[in-house]
Order: sequence, then structure tokens, then C-alpha cells
Amino acid sequence: PRAHVILDRQAVIAPVRRRTFGSFVEHLGRCVYTGLYEPDHPTANEDGFRMDVVELVRELGTKTVRYPGGNFVSGFRWEDSVGPRETRPVRRDLAWHSLESNQVGLDEFARWLKLTDSEMMLAVNLGTRGILPALDLLEYANHPSGTELSDLRIANGTPHPHNIRMWCLGNEMDGSWQTGFLNAEDYGKLAARTAAAMKMADKDLELVVCGSSNSGMPTFGDWERTVLEHTYEHVDYVSCHAYYQEHDGDLGSFLASAMDMDYFIDTVVATADHVGYKKRTKKKINISFDEWNVWYQKEFAESDEVNDEWRHAPRQLEDVYSVADAVVVGNLLMTLLKHSDRVTSASLAQLVNVIAPIMTEPGGPAWRQTTFYPFSITSRLASGEVIRPVIETPTYTTAHHGEASVVDAVATVDEDRAAVFLVHRGLTQATQVTIDVRSLGSARILEAVTLADKDAYAKNTLAEQNRVTPHTNPSAILSDGQLSIELPPVSWTAIALG
Ligand code: AHR
Repeated sequence: PRAHVILDRQAVIAPVRRRTFGSFVEHLGRCVYTGLYEPDHPTANEDGFRMDVVELVRELGTKTVRYPGGNFVSGFRWEDSVGPRETRPVRRDLAWHSLESNQVGLDEFARWLKLTDSEMMLAVNLGTRGILPALDLLEYANHPSGTELSDLRIANGTPHPHNIRMWCLGNEMDGSWQTGFLNAEDYGKLAARTAAAMKMADKDLELVVCGSSNSGMPTFGDWERTVLEHTYEHVDYVSCHAYYQEHDGDLGSFLASAMDMDYFIDTVVATADHVGYKKRTKKKINISFDEWNVWYQKEFAESDEVNDEWRHAPRQLEDVYSVADAVVVGNLLMTLLKHSDRVTSASLAQLVNVIAPIMTEPGGPAWRQTTFYPFSITSRLASGEVIRPVIETPTYTTAHHGEASVVDAVATVDEDRAAVFLVHRGLTQATQVTIDVRSLGSARILEAVTLADKDAYAKNTLAEQNRVTPHTNPSAILSDGQLSIELPPVSWTAIALG
């Protein structure tokens, strides 16, 4: 099979947003404890953070990290997590049925973020709490000094305010699993009042209101409309969350998951704009796609992975990812890039151990899952502006998404360099792709790497940490403005041009 891609540097969608390369740290399972934080680990720094993990996070290239949940945030009292560690309480976390020791909290996490050169996106608890604790947290985190809570932060060892810009107004408040879930009317009113109060403290905050937990929720669409009717003038983003997995051995549908994300984004943009038109305002609400990934959620729901004994940092949601999963992750990230006009922030859920690109063993190594690679390479190569490609490709029929392209692509163009990202969803044969790059003015291929394996289900594990890594694709040739490359079945590819 053959495919042809035409790139026109004038066909600009939007700038590449660094916040597209966000991630998510929730107090869940071993994400924080024995993931980021393990004071007895040989690589631990003076704060107890694992520096081997910090190195991998730097390589991953995350630019924002959402914290501290997730479902966890709906039972969280932020005050528990600051001040002298020895006086911090152990609490039950109802969301994940485990114990929270509070040994890592806001101030430590902010220090960890500095090591990774990332910005914090902080969620307030609107499940079991309300406006005043959110304002208190804002004062503690962002007020310079001279008030009770800012002085408390200083006394706790953080003289400078954290200056957190992005705040999530709760998490998945439409979900019956959420502690303190609400209907759209009630949540919309609470979120509007909380947002208005937070902006009285700082009008430049960027606030994210909860959209639906996923596009399969029965209230999807109506939820966004109702919530935005209440909050439109007070917020800046509406959130989207989506997790994908292969069902019943249907790899073809799974590989086309990005089509669902594409539709999801279009629908939420249309709904947000509908509310905007009704309000006769030119203000646009953007999307914070603040949870996205592959997650074998069905298996999790059906498993006995319930922490009945109220353990601290149990192994939960430790999915091990395959090549096919990485291809889907790479394609989802391409889709986010294609929507950079309205999706201006996103978070891969999550970062370490819990449905994560990075895995660790207590006292042992940290390693890269297959999904690490498309994220880290895209974060490193994408810069400048996203351009919309014209793609001529064979298609195939899927049970879940109708007719799907065998090849999908997106490109970014900067002053002196460009990057092309491709996925190949074909299961058996390679596809020869030609890419017309004449308008980019690129002279040479700087790098062409492909993630693929004879076994689409090959994985990296503790025993075999580098079973799957990207390889230089030797078939890539650039001549007279025509780039040609062979894409193996079930593969993700990045090409850097200079
Ligand atoms: O990322 C895991 C969980 O998925 C989050 O806690 C929740 O927000 C979502 O349902």
C-alpha cells in the first residue's frame, strides 16, 4: 500500500502550545510514594525524591503537571499536607480505598516540579469542600506574605509564593464514583461561585471547569452546556477526559481511537461556542484535555484490585503498555496537536506507575514504558506552528469508528526546522509514504525514528526494560522536496527536518 501527504507551511492551525505536553500526578497507588518519592532509595535527594525518576521525567519533556487528583482531590484537605511532616495526619482516601500519609504535599511537590522544569496545575476540592477552603489554598499558595496563610507557607519553608496560574475547579464532578458528585445545575452554581471568588483574589488566574468524565456519560453535552451557562464568564477552560483500550481483540478499532478523541473535541468546542453565542460574548472557552491515555479500565473494574485492607501506596492501575498502546498514545498526541487552536492544555494521565509512561520498583530501577517514547520525542521535536496536512491514504473499516485512515499525520514548522509525526494503523503490510515537503524548505533529514515491533503486543517490563525502543528508520530519504519513508505495520514515526 501507498500513502501521500502534502505539507503546506501556510496551512497553520495554531502555535504549538507547550502545555499540550502536560502530565498528571495523583495521590493514587504508587504514583507519589515509591514513584516520585522514596527517601530510602539510593538516588533520593534531600527531599526524598528519586532522582532517577526526575531524570526520566525531564527526558519525557512534561511542561505542566496536574496535581493532586483526580478522584483523590474530592476527599483532600490541603492543610493536612503542609507543615512539619511528623505532625501530618494519616487519612483514609475513599476514592482509591487506601491510606494517605501526607508525607508529600503542596510545598514538596512544588520543589519536585522545579527539578523537572514544569508548571503546576492545581485542583481544588469541590466534592466534599467548597469556596472557603479553595480561597485558603489560593492564599497559602500564591499570596506573597503578610497574611495568616501566606506567612504559614513562609514559616513552612517556602518564602516565595508558588504563583500557580492554572486551577481545576474539582474533578469529574458528574461521576457517581466521585466523592460528593453533583448534577450539572448544582455543580455549575458551585463552580461559578468558587471561580468568581478566586478571581476576586487574582483576576488573571486560569480556571478549568469540569466537563464530562468521558464522552460516554449519559449527560455528555448537556452537562457541558449547563455547567458553562453558569460559569462562562468566570472560567477559561472546560476539561475533557478520555481513556482508550482494546476491546475483544479488535485491534483495528483500537488503533483508530484518535478518531473518537477528534470527535469528542469538536463536540465540546461546538457546545462551548453555542453557550458563548447565546451569551452574546466573543470570549472563547478553550479545552484543557487534562486526562488522556490508554487505560485497561475494563480489566481494572472487573479485577479484585480493591484495597480492602486500607494500605498505603498499594499497587493500583499499574498497566503495562504494548507497542500498539504506544502507537495509540502517539496518535492521540497528534490529535491534540491538530486541535491546538482550542485545546491549549492537556495532561497525559498519569506520570509514574499509575497508568504511566514511567515505572519504578521500590529500592530498584525506573524504566520507560513503550508509551514514553512517542510523548518524549513529540515534546522534543514539535515547535513553532502546527500545520494541517493533506493526507491521501487507504482506509479500512472499523467496528467502532467507521472508515479509518491507514496512515495519519501531523506536522510542525519552526523557523529553521520542521517535524512530521505519522502513525500507521495497518496490521500486516508496510505502507510506503511520500511526503511533499517542498514548502518547508528543508534541506535534510535530521532524525527519522520508528517505534514498531514484529509483535504489536511487545512490552517493556522490569525483567526486560528495553525490549521496545524506537529505532532509526533507514528507509527515510529526502530528495527534491519529496520525503519518502516506509512505515511498518502498527507503528509510530517521527521525522525531524532541518
Ligand atoms: O486517572 C485515574 C482516574 O481517572 C482519575 O482519578 C479520575 O479523574 C479518572 O476517572
